[in-house]
Amino acid sequence: MKKTVLVSGGAGFIGSHVTVELAQAGYDVVIADNFSNCDETNYRGVCKILGRELPLIPTDFCDKAAVYALFEKYPIDAVIHFAAFKAVGESVAEPLKYYRNNILSFLNILDAAKDKERCNVLFSSSATVYGEAEDLPVTEKTPRQPAKSPYGNTKTVCEDILRDSVAAYPAVKGIALRYFNPIGAHPTALIGELPRGVPNNLVPFITQTAIGKRACLSVFGNDYPTEDGTCLRDFIDIVDLAKAHVCAVSRMIDGQMKQDYEIFNIGTGRPVSVLELINTFERVNGVKLNWKFAPRRPGDVVAIWADPTLAEQELGWKAERSVEQTLIAAWAWEKHLAEIGI
Ligand code: WQD
Repeated sequence: MKKTVLVSGGAGFIGSHVTVELAQAGYDVVIADNFSNCDETNYRGVCKILGRELPLIPTDFCDKAAVYALFEKYPIDAVIHFAAFKAVGESVAEPLKYYRNNILSFLNILDAAKDKERCNVLFSSSATVYGEAEDLPVTEKTPRQPAKSPYGNTKTVCEDILRDSVAAYPAVKGIALRYFNPIGAHPTALIGELPRGVPNNLVPFITQTAIGKRACLSVFGNDYPTEDGTCLRDFIDIVDLAKAHVCAVSRMIDGQMKQDYEIFNIGTGRPVSVLELINTFERVNGVKLNWKFAPRRPGDVVAIWADPTLAEQELGWKAERSVEQTLIAAWAWEKHLAEIGI
């Protein structure tokens, strides 16, 4: 029998790519989103890629009754939780908004999951939990560090809530995936990242500068202790990242887990500097970017990249797409947005 996966925040950047991969792998996907941080562009793109409509249920995951209603209506075998606020700076200015939304929504999902006979919960965590790690690359055993922002703290706290829920409620099994820096877009250019206002993240800022929406890209810091003085990150292709979710969901549903709560790093294992990324973008897309050095951005770690060995061994997953392919896809998406007038 086909298995059903509920994707909270399924109309967003990561959620839409995961939805496509799950549907293509044969799962029934229910998308639930309250469109607080996105419009229907990605949802329409998902339907176009798949050639059919998927159920889309407008849902506020902070509304417990609405979450229970979803669990009653659909035979949910697994839930993937993306519905969360994610702007680091805003979370510092409005911590209660972040704690209320990001934590309450997850509590409601776990409450509904624990009352089922069995429910698998996948939490979208982040490499932000490692902070400025002493030893690189980081493995899943690398100690977490106190978060530098309320946003980061919601990731740490939700990991702990999932761990404790799995320990207490026999119905609940859980996996946390710690993403490094997801970038790019679907190769069809029909879904991608759609930041509201001025982008916080590097790649949307690059593509928006290249298309002329932004005058100049600021590269934050040129005096870091790295080869070219800019920060090092593990940029992971969004389609590769989405495929990791299919592996994790099938591991849970097929009863392959070695422990009831598991954690995996989802990265490439390959550090790339901010300048290298900019130069590669220019080279593979044949465009010239207007950029300048600017002071360091508060809160940035110098370097972080994954040891993705555990994901390869246990999930049978590894990143496959090159940074060149990813940046070509990111640029194609930005051009698609220009064509459709966004
Ligand atoms: C990458 C590098 C910047 C913008 C954040 C979250 C993390 C995760 C992904 C989110 C840094 C530099 C950036 C710009 C720049 N999850 N940069 N100019 O900070 O590594 O990770 O996003 O939802 O939890 O913390 O990603 O893309 O913002 O920055 O020079 O205009 O690019 O300083 O070195 P980050 P990022």
